[in-house]
Amino acid sequence: MPAVRQEMRGDAAWITLDQPERRNALSDALVGELRQHLATALAAPEVRAVVLTGAGPAFSAGADLKSGGIGAADNPFVEVLKTLWEAPKPIIGRINGHAFGGGVGLVAACDLTVAADSAVFAFSEVRVGVIPAMISVLCVRKLGVQAAMWLFLTGERFSAARAVELGLVHRAVPADGLDAAVEEVLALVRLGGPNAVREAKQLVRRIPELSVEEGFRWTAAKIAELFASEEAAEGMRAFVEKRQPRWAAKS
Ligand code: COA
Repeated sequence: MPAVRQEMRGDAAWITLDQPERRNALSDALVGELRQHLATALAAPEVRAVVLTGAGPAFSAGADLKSGGIGAADNPFVEVLKTLWEAPKPIIGRINGHAFGGGVGLVAACDLTVAADSAVFAFSEVRVGVIPAMISVLCVRKLGVQAAMWLFLTGERFSAARAVELGLVHRAVPADGLDAAVEEVLALVRLGGPNAVREAKQLVRRIPELSVEEGFRWTAAKIAELFASEEAAEGMRAFVEKRQPRWAAKS
C-alpha cells in the first residue's frame, strides 16, 4: 500500500500523506514516497501549484516513534523540507488535522497554508526526549525566536487560531470549508503570472538572508529582468487592452 498519493486536479498536483492509521508519521517509506511525488510534480510543466495534505484525522504526527525515530546524517526528510522551501512552484498546505513535531516542520515549509480550525499543533519533541532539530531551521524563521523558544521548550499544544497569530499558517477555517479555502488560494495564485509567482516566492525566501545593500542590488536587477520578460509584456498588454492576461484567462 502506498504511503503517499498524488492526483491532478486541474493544474494543481494534490499530494496526500496516506497512512491515517499511523497519523501519517514520517516513516522512511512515507518520506521517500513524498520526496518522489514532489520531484514528479515540480518537474511537470502542467503543474502550476502543489497542494500538500494528509488523509484521516491528522496531517502528520511527526517522526516515526515506533521505528526508533530518525537516524544518522543521511536524512531524506531534510531533502523534503528543502525541496518544499525552495520549490519553484507555490506549495499550498492543506492542514487537515493535527501536526506534531516534524509534521509542524512540513507545515512551516509550505508557502500558503490553510488549516482546519480543529487542528492542533505541537513541537512535542522535548516530551519524548529529543529536539525539533532540522525543522528549527524553518520554524525559527517563521515563528521568530520568542515564540519558538516557548513552543520548543515547553512542547505545549496550540490551536489553529494560535498558529495563525504566530504566522505559521495563513488561515484557519471550519474543516468542512477546507477544500473551498484551498480552491480560493489556487484561484488567487492563478491570477499571477507563473514566472512572477515563482520569482515572488524567491524574493520572500532570499530577502531576509541579504543585507539591505545586497537586497536593493539584487531586486533592482531582478525587476529590470522581469519587466523585460515575455510574461510581463503580456501582463502589460492585457492591462492596456482591458482583458485578462493569457495565464489567468486560461484557468
Ligand atoms: N510515530 C509512530 N506511530 C504513531 C505516531 C508517531 N509519531 N503518532 C501516532 N502514531 C500511531 C499510534 O501509536 C497509534 O497506533 P496504534 O493504533 O497501533 O496504537 C495510531 O498512530 C493512532 O495514534 P493515537 O495517538 O491513538 O491518535 P490520536 O488521534 O488520538 O492522536 C496525536 C494523534 C498526533 C496527537 C498522537 O498520536 C501523538 O501525540 N503522536 C505522537 C506525536 C509526537 O510526539 N511526535 C513527535 C515525534 S519527535
